[in-house]
Amino acid sequence: MTRTLPQTPPASRPLPADLTRRDFPAGFVFGVATSSYQIEGAAAEDGRTPSIWDVFCAEPGRISDGSSGAVACDHYHRWEQDLDLIAALGVDAYRFSVAWPRVVPAGRGPVNPAGLDFYERLTDGLLARGVQPHVTLYHWDLPATLQDAGGWTNRDTAHAFAEYAAAVAARLGNRVVSYATLNEPWCSSILSYELGEHAPGTRDRAAALSAAHHLMLGHALALPEIRRHAPQSQAGIVLNLGPQESASDRPEDIRAARHADGRFNRWFLDPLLRGEYPADTWADVAVDAPPVQDGDLTLIAAPMDFLGVNYYSRGVIGAQGGVLPEGARVTDMGWEIHPQGLTDLLLRLNADYPNLPPVYITENGAAFADERSGDRVHDPRRTEFLSTHLDALLRATQAGVDVRGYFAWSLMDNFEWAHGYQKRFGLVYVDYATQERLLKDSALWYQAFLK
Ligand code: NOJ
Repeated sequence: MTRTLPQTPPASRPLPADLTRRDFPAGFVFGVATSSYQIEGAAAEDGRTPSIWDVFCAEPGRISDGSSGAVACDHYHRWEQDLDLIAALGVDAYRFSVAWPRVVPAGRGPVNPAGLDFYERLTDGLLARGVQPHVTLYHWDLPATLQDAGGWTNRDTAHAFAEYAAAVAARLGNRVVSYATLNEPWCSSILSYELGEHAPGTRDRAAALSAAHHLMLGHALALPEIRRHAPQSQAGIVLNLGPQESASDRPEDIRAARHADGRFNRWFLDPLLRGEYPADTWADVAVDAPPVQDGDLTLIAAPMDFLGVNYYSRGVIGAQGGVLPEGARVTDMGWEIHPQGLTDLLLRLNADYPNLPPVYITENGAAFADERSGDRVHDPRRTEFLSTHLDALLRATQAGVDVRGYFAWSLMDNFEWAHGYQKRFGLVYVDYATQERLLKDSALWYQAFLK
């Protein structure tokens, strides 16, 4: 994966605008995705307690526009209309997450039936509309009470997570097509505890590596609970992955890229799919190494039914850090648009991990500064982003990678974490003043693609 960039970037491929779902294998699942804190709002309703994101948003300077997810897309109240919208897009599947503080308000202990009722309504509402429910159990909204006890740096949190997962799987059962334990544990550990950009916002590498280990342990403890209560559902995890390529042939850049790959990709892939931490990266971070107990890695490497991959961009790494290649095109997040990276990533996973389970692309998408003109939102760059990435995905499947589905991020504009509402990832535009939803041109394109 540490590969040197070509001197001249390859000519960009023509826009695969005529791609349709018929170009993909039969049964390939197409969907859209969201997460609880980013869309639900209703932060204090029906027994929900604060999550670490409610706490984090209340700290001055954490969120660039000073906002929070307290109201967000008000999806908690508008869910029926939103499910109609999902059905109107013509997707096969919808990926959403369950908010732990709605279901187990104290983090551990009594289950709140009213919290589960909401997700049961969603699940049944999807099934009634012919849309498959795909559930993520942890998309970063940890009950705040658990953070008071150290959050994911505390090994007990992994056990609390497994109990919460059991409560959800016991209620929703086999109606859910797939359960992902965690979404992007790199973000909920490294970005959150080491880089300080996400809740809880600490800057401590040892804490972050401990959190990452306990997250993976939580995944491992939750898997058998899902299998027990929902034996027909698929169980797996969602990782954010991307090639980390060397900015040049210089040995110091190549070394830096390999380190970046170890920390971003292999730190999570290797325990889950090989039962070991990557030795080179472990040596690099040895002074802050996580507290691994006997048996943990065997548990963490238990077979999964799928690996969810969230792909947004690659990294191009030099000894001084990440760089943007000359002439790169970027999204509103500043992330390089690089569809080829998705093909490269999938081929690499297939080659390097003999135990790789079937893959779903559980997120892929782009933020752009969309503006409404009348009742239209012209977002040709998002359509190009989605179609070129679908084309890249198709090439990986044709090369033999077992990919079963693709979820666009996101159904609608929403609370983009530390960026608040300033970054719009939706296929559907949200007018936050009125909560009106408007299909962007990219949504119309996806609809036509799916016909
Ligand atoms: C990945 C995360 O899972 C999601 O919550 C976030 O909004 C997108 N990336 C875009 O940054």
